[in-house]
Amino acid sequence: MPPTPTPAPPDLILAADLPDRGGVERLLGALAPARPRLKVGLQLFTRYGPDLVRAWSASAGPLFLDLKLHDIPNTVGRAVESLAGLPVEYLTLHALGGRAMLEAAVAARDNAAPGLRLLAVTVLTSHGDTDLAELGIRPPAREAVLRLGGLAHEAGVDGLVCSPLEVSPLREALGPGPDLIVPGIRPAGTARGDQQRVLGPEEALAEGATHLVVGRPILEASDPAAAYLDLKARIDRARSLEPLSDPPSRP
Ligand code: C5P
Repeated sequence: MPPTPTPAPPDLILAADLPDRGGVERLLGALAPARPRLKVGLQLFTRYGPDLVRAWSASAGPLFLDLKLHDIPNTVGRAVESLAGLPVEYLTLHALGGRAMLEAAVAARDNAAPGLRLLAVTVLTSHGDTDLAELGIRPPAREAVLRLGGLAHEAGVDGLVCSPLEVSPLREALGPGPDLIVPGIRPAGTARGDQQRVLGPEEALAEGATHLVVGRPILEASDPAAAYLDLKARIDRARSLEPLSDPPSRP
């Protein structure tokens, strides 16, 4: 497998979950010269497609494309190939797609898009134990996350998307190697929305998260630019207190 680039130090990734690109671009304008790392999800990608990724990456750098691919191995492999040449740093797929699908994605990445880092979503952070039971997955969520995370890691993905509550057990199980990208961040006083397994930003970093993904606590704040800058400063401060030279040890 070709070497994958060394990831940047822990950072804040802004989930650009607004209905139109103008809303995000106004926020980016208000934040300049700060240049947030951006996650583009289904809402905007289904509307604007790869052109948006090319346009935003010109100032924000390679984007996080959160498409959560989940299909038969051939289709997912071909979709990964189709991303070759797009300025994307991270792409998500569902670990529930299974080993063959994950391996097909890794093989396609290795062949066509070697700079791309693949992240497997284990259990959505909006899912609690009741939702899992309804889906036929035995709770608690943490066990399903560990099982699916181990499978995805074996299949060769670069990292996982997980709730802040699962960072520590995943680090313990998988060691310091995989990127652990963590949504479900809720600074004190912000609404949970549909997220069930949440933690504050400093706590999530202390658990060993690689990057934090935050959407509504910024986008729905009365002053989104101020909310972003406040959270970014908190993350940078917490990061400086957590020496990178001291990663969690392997079991
Ligand atoms: O608004 P909020 O901060 O909850 O946004 C979290 C972002 O992370 C959303 O874009 C959501 O799609 C994404 N995400 C998630 N849970 C996962 C994977 C991605 O919340 N397991």
